[in-house]
Amino acid sequence: MKRATLVPVIGALAVVGIFSAVVSAQTVRPDRAIKYRQGIMGAQGWNMGVLGAMAKGDRPYNKDEAVRAATFVSQLLQMSWDGFAPGTDQGAPTKAKAEIWKEPAKFTQLADAAKAESLKLVAAAQTGDLAALRPAVGAMGKACNNCHDDFQSK
Ligand code: HEC
Repeated sequence: MKRATLVPVIGALAVVGIFSAVVSAQTVRPDRAIKYRQGIMGAQGWNMGVLGAMAKGDRPYNKDEAVRAATFVSQLLQMSWDGFAPGTDQGAPTKAKAEIWKEPAKFTQLADAAKAESLKLVAAAQTGDLAALRPAVGAMGKACNNCHDDFQSK
C-alpha cells in the first residue's frame, strides 16, 4: 500500500478507536483509564487545597475564588468514575484497591455521597461567608476521605 492511501486508513482506525473506548468499557486501555482518574483526583485535590487554605486562614478569603474552586470540585466529582471501569485494577502504578471492583455498590455509594456534599460546598461558597464555608470544606474533605479510607491504598 502506498503512503498516500495508508494515511486515511490510519486516521479512520484512530477515530474508531476513540469511539469504541467511549462506547464499551471493555475496550478501555487500563493505563489510560488509571492516568485519567488520577489526573481528575489530583485536580480535585488541587481545588480542595485552595479551599482548605482559605478555611485555615493560610490564604486570603475571596468569595469568587472560593466559588470557582468549589464549582470545579463538584464538576470534577462527576468525571473520574469512568476511569474505574472493570479491568482497570492494574496496567499502570495505582493506589486503587481491588475492593473497588468487588464492592462496586459501596464504591458508588461513597462517590454519590461526595457528589451530594459538593453541592452543599458550592452553596456554602456562594453565601460569601467564610464562617459558612469552613464547615462545608471540612465535610467535603471527610466525604473524600471516607472513600480513600476504604478504597485507596496508603
Ligand atoms: C468513591 C471514592 C473516592 C472519592 C469520593 C474520592 N476519591 Fe480520591 N481517590 C480514590 C481512589 C480509589 C484513588 C486512587 C486512584 C489510583 O491510584 O488509581 C484516589 C486518588 C486520589 C488522589 C491521588 C491522585 C494521584 O495523583 O494519583 C487525590 C489527590 C484524591 N484522590 C483527591 C480526592 C479529593 C480531593 C476528593 C473529594 C473532593 C476525592 N479524592 C474523592 C477514590 C475516591
